[in-house]
Amino acid sequence: MTTSTDEQAAPHTATTPSSASAASSSAPVRVTVVVGSNRTGRFGPVVARWLVDRVRDHDDFEVDVVDVAETDLPTTFAPTPEVTAQLAEVTPKLASAEAFVVLTPEYNHSYPAALKNLIDWHFHEWRAKPVALVSYGGVSGGLRATEHLRQVFAELHATTVRDTVSFHNAHGSFDDEGRLKDPTGPDAAAKVMLDQLAWWGRALREAKEKRPYG
Ligand SMILES: Cc1cc2nc3c(=O)[nH]c(=O)nc-3n(C[C@H](O)[C@H](O)[C@H](O)COP(=O)(O)O)c2cc1C
Repeated sequence: MTTSTDEQAAPHTATTPSSASAASSSAPVRVTVVVGSNRTGRFGPVVARWLVDRVRDHDDFEVDVVDVAETDLPTTFAPTPEVTAQLAEVTPKLASAEAFVVLTPEYNHSYPAALKNLIDWHFHEWRAKPVALVSYGGVSGGLRATEHLRQVFAELHATTVRDTVSFHNAHGSFDDEGRLKDPTGPDAAAKVMLDQLAWWGRALREAKEKRPYG
């Protein structure tokens, strides 16, 4: 930050608040993609590969990934040394994110317990950040999981973006190489959703620069 004293001392090199703000608003939005299933033999990584590629292809983002299958957080909230070590791996990837894309399958009309556990182990990390939701499943395409997650993230002061991507009959939508048989619809839907996520990511970054949330 530049103070008025800095500006007096070096008027030709000082960064003005408006130019600092312009630089920060043009920087890529740091997105963490959360992969929400951990079942042995899961289909999640196939959808995750497609999704991470879409986020990487988008000009507005810098991407990191958190996979619940690679975190081993207990469902009892006890801060043991093992838990502290696990959190040291995962929490910084959530804390440094300015926005999230959460990938969820549908399990029994909702999202997986492992995803809820990761969410519940954190609080500030979600706060005042936008969340885009991508789902997959059988007949429902995971839409019920998505709607349940909207309620959870509202409680955490996160804002879910309006548009989503969902894969009905997900297993049948990808070929044996893990590529979408027809990417036209999903790619277009991902673009719309990610454009909204970028808008929210930048808007909330600028808002927080002016005034801390809460
Ligand atoms: C325990 C369980 C419950 C499921 N419940 C639903 C469901 O309610 N609706 C649905 O459309 N698909 C349901 N499915 C299908 C899954 O969404 C689908 O198999 C998906 O690939 C699971 O994600 P994963 O392979 O990454 O674990 C269920 C699957 C499992 C294992």
